[in-house]
Amino acid sequence: MGSYMNEDLERALSWIQTSDAIAVLTGAGISAESGVPTFRDADGLWRSFRFEELATPEAFERDPKLVWDWYNFRRERIAKAQPNPGHMALVELETRKSEFTLITQNVDGLHELAGSKNVLKLHGDIWQVRCTKCGAAWVDRRSSLPEIPPHCLCGALARPGVVWFGEPLPKRVINEATQAVKSSEILLVIGTSAVVYPAAGLIPLAKAHGRTVIEINPDETPCSDMADCSLHGPAGEILPRLVGSDSHRPKESDARSGARMKTFAEMSAPEIRAMAAWLRSRLQGRANPLVLSQLSDEELVRRYVQHWLRSE
Ligand code: OAD
Repeated sequence: MGSYMNEDLERALSWIQTSDAIAVLTGAGISAESGVPTFRDADGLWRSFRFEELATPEAFERDPKLVWDWYNFRRERIAKAQPNPGHMALVELETRKSEFTLITQNVDGLHELAGSKNVLKLHGDIWQVRCTKCGAAWVDRRSSLPEIPPHCLCGALARPGVVWFGEPLPKRVINEATQAVKSSEILLVIGTSAVVYPAAGLIPLAKAHGRTVIEINPDETPCSDMADCSLHGPAGEILPRLVGSDSHRPKESDARSGARMKTFAEMSAPEIRAMAAWLRSRLQGRANPLVLSQLSDEELVRRYVQHWLRSE
């Protein structure tokens, strides 16, 4: 398990402060601190279970009861879980940015439970049940289903509303995720081993479009080499610091000398120029130089003021 330097955190923090469009890709690691097991860690699900027997269309065809028993077991675990500070920090970040897309590989629903609004679920939703024949889909939040395997009203067998290995991702969801990554300034990659495609392909896509990639993961992953900054540690600890939803965020007095921080509309042109110069010197070598040079004084200050006023 790695560690991260405060200066890396500061660098990532300044990139996030000065960006208005952020995409986030999460994996099982963000829910680990909520007690939901990951797949590939030492105590991960794929260490004790074979995905070929539980998470493929062929497995379901062979033994629907076995597959449903496994999903029932996972539903029971997830039903007991609550969102952790990592989930909550992303809710706060969403409220501060004008463009924000949360792309998740997780089926546990903890992002929505925390209050995230714009969530693209690449691998479906464990609380959804779908008919194998008529395609009807419904939500059933009972932690354990009484009838295994469940059936649709039409009489056909129902399946979990998740994506299995060998199945395509929902077209609309992957298209929107791709679009969000292309149009965002930053891709924040949290708690994924970055080995399952097409989800993992969003990371090189971001790089190919010149976007800044920030990774949060206790371990090295294939994403670490591509990332502009890898913060090696638990998401529940790092995200609140990165988003400024804890005491780490600069105080108003840090931002400008003077009492209350003004809103952007309250600032005069010389004040904006002075603050922009101060911000540029402060962000020198810490903010993404490409993004920084593209921002006008007005835009830089507007984003900064907006960010910190919302965080107070
Ligand atoms: P994995 O289990 O492959 O990876 C979890 C990652 O989370 C690992 O890289 C861990 O180092 C990291 N991690 C563990 N604890 C963490 C913490 N507290 N904070 C941050 N990171 C932490 O899970 P995924 O990458 O999500 O797909 O797996 C991708 C897909 O493979 C899943 O959606 C699922 C699985 O098979 C399907 O079922 C189709």
